[in-house]
Amino acid sequence: MPLIQWDETMSLDMDELDEQHRELIDLINEAFDAIQRNDERCMAPLIDKMRDYAVVHFEAEEAILRSCGYPESEVHAGQHRVFEEKVEEFRRNLAAQANLSQVFIFLSRWLTSHIMHEDRKFLPWLPETDDEGA
Ligand SMILES: [Fe+2]
Repeated sequence: MPLIQWDETMSLDMDELDEQHRELIDLINEAFDAIQRNDERCMAPLIDKMRDYAVVHFEAEEAILRSCGYPESEVHAGQHRVFEEKVEEFRRNLAAQANLSQVFIFLSRWLTSHIMHEDRKFLPWLPETDDEGA
């Protein structure tokens, strides 16, 4: 069973960011799957892949926030840095950690909550969606 399941309640009604969030969730699920299988060969590369994609996604999201003048864009970017640091720390101590699944579940919940609450705050600053008034 996937750790996170994307559903419409997570949608920001912006295709670019929704697609990136879906992709990130897929990568989280893949990495979690390897962790649960205790697949040591796949675990680290999949966590790296997830982390790399998170960095790319955060950069894209932050660029959008700055370009649309979201006043909290620096605070929001700071939240992304916290996630990146937590993943980095998790990744560094991979071999030494007793309960990988538990830590990874924590990281995933943090991200889901970020998408559903923090990302929602910048919605009023986003440009009109494609399907409105088209
Ligand atoms: Fe965000």
